[in-house]
Amino acid sequence: MRLPLLALVCCAVMAWQHCAAEAAKARHFKWEISNMFWSPDCEEKVVIGINGQFPGPTIRARAGDTIHVQLKNALHTEGVVIHWHGIRQIGTPWADGTAAISQCAINPEETFTYRFVVDKPGTYFYHGHYGMQRAAGLYGSLIVDVAEGEEEPFKYDGELNLLLSDWYHESIHTQMVALSSKPFRWIGEPQSLLINGRGQLNCSLAAAHTPWVNQCAAAVNRQCAPVVFPVQPNKTYRLRVASTTSLASLNLAIGNHKLTVVEADGNYVDPFVVDDIDLYSGDSYSVLLTTDQDTSSNYWVSVGVRGRQPKTAPALAVLNYRPNRASKLPAVAPPVTPAWDDYDHSKAFTYRIRARAGTAPPPPTADRRIELLNTQNRMDGHIKWSINNASMVLPATPYLGSLKMGLKSTLAAARPAETFSRGYNVTLPPPNPNTTVGDNVYVLAHNTTVDVVLQNANALSRNVSEVHPWHLHGHDFWVLGYGDGAYRGDAADEARLNLRDPPLRNTVVIFPYGWTLLRFVADNPGVWAFHCHIEPHLHMGMGVIFAEAVDLVGKVPNEAVSCGATATALMAGGHL
Ligand code: C2O
Ligand code: CU
Repeated sequence: MRLPLLALVCCAVMAWQHCAAEAAKARHFKWEISNMFWSPDCEEKVVIGINGQFPGPTIRARAGDTIHVQLKNALHTEGVVIHWHGIRQIGTPWADGTAAISQCAINPEETFTYRFVVDKPGTYFYHGHYGMQRAAGLYGSLIVDVAEGEEEPFKYDGELNLLLSDWYHESIHTQMVALSSKPFRWIGEPQSLLINGRGQLNCSLAAAHTPWVNQCAAAVNRQCAPVVFPVQPNKTYRLRVASTTSLASLNLAIGNHKLTVVEADGNYVDPFVVDDIDLYSGDSYSVLLTTDQDTSSNYWVSVGVRGRQPKTAPALAVLNYRPNRASKLPAVAPPVTPAWDDYDHSKAFTYRIRARAGTAPPPPTADRRIELLNTQNRMDGHIKWSINNASMVLPATPYLGSLKMGLKSTLAAARPAETFSRGYNVTLPPPNPNTTVGDNVYVLAHNTTVDVVLQNANALSRNVSEVHPWHLHGHDFWVLGYGDGAYRGDAADEARLNLRDPPLRNTVVIFPYGWTLLRFVADNPGVWAFHCHIEPHLHMGMGVIFAEAVDLVGKVPNEAVSCGATATALMAGGHL
């Protein structure tokens, strides 16, 4: 491989150590995506796999590297795209992998190459972003180490990776039909929770752990054997934990062990110690664990449901203190997940997350404030989620191409609302339950600082308000604060904001009946999705689009967006 000129110059003028940091690598992957039989929880179903694997292969790189994924769609009858969750895609918005937003779905038998830089170390993952393909198992881990010659700001002896998900036995096709049918049919709770793609249906380990070894561990099927994490006593491990669930909010705990949180969504946080951590879909964390417990025992890793009345058994894995045998049953029962509706527990955890000293502080003020009221509504007998009374629908032609080419009729004539009425009562079902569909495109000017208020409210049924984890593409944002009830922007609300050490994240939760305020700088031209990361909610319209300084986007590769109206315009001699 030829060193880029810049690196050579750098070698000549700088210390070798610095030079090594500059010598980023290109990492090439060749993937084929296909449906395949698999038994994630010991019951055979069809999953979407990559190169015959489920979950997909882990990508491991160093900060500054360029990832090339040459992806072939072997699904036969449906398109596919892959989103690199947490990677900001600075300067490469066409590689963000969002169907109808940043690119055209890759057709069956077609190949598309994603090329992008992973600029920041951290724990990330990737997943399908077309229809509900993530819930069909299309996901995997993406781990970025610090650049060569640099060091993490904490020490550890080893690493364990935990990619958490939930699993439904109904196909995503059935689920999508259910969610859009009239009358509405809810998909219900997942059948199982998975750790690294493995769970055990009907092996409620927490309830009866003695027959476990026979029933599940020895299960003929390696695909659903409980995960074993081998560790040496008296060492410190970095656990990289990410949640790509379709629906479930999770809580993770490890028998007898404390966890020190050090990273959230690829950003270092001020370390703090907890017994368990909450993870909402789209979240990732690194936690440090020291194997300082009785070395004659193994310990349970337990993952349970929060935020919805659980109908799904916890997922269990084994922390295997070597040289104990992996099959040796832990002496202590698995940790019990906090009550699903103990929101004080959830808030106590979330509010403790602060940026590590040295993190860039947010600009002190914003140029614009966008307030997004989240409601559940009815539309012609369908049930939808909407934002300021408009439920998001995606266009036939991806925005990145159509907006870049300035194609008329791309955007709805009326811009989406930037606020909701101050008197809105968030504790009651919506007084006007009817909603419309909208493109929900907010146009952002380059380098402006944007505040977003996410306001939660009561759903259609009385006394119901759900948790929604919102995820932003193309950016990290500072989480300035949270509050209960309706946001008013008055002195009391202002007093709840943290401008000193707010954490940088790409996913943030809104608690039932509460609000969350975040801030980001629109410094990455592109078209970015901002949505609830709960797959069925997104499918029901819970999202908006930020069209950010699209005129400043560089040359978009034709193959990313040549479909629909963009293809027609290109044929007529247009330029991207
Ligand atoms: Cu991980 Cu738009 O999502
Ligand atoms: Cu949601």
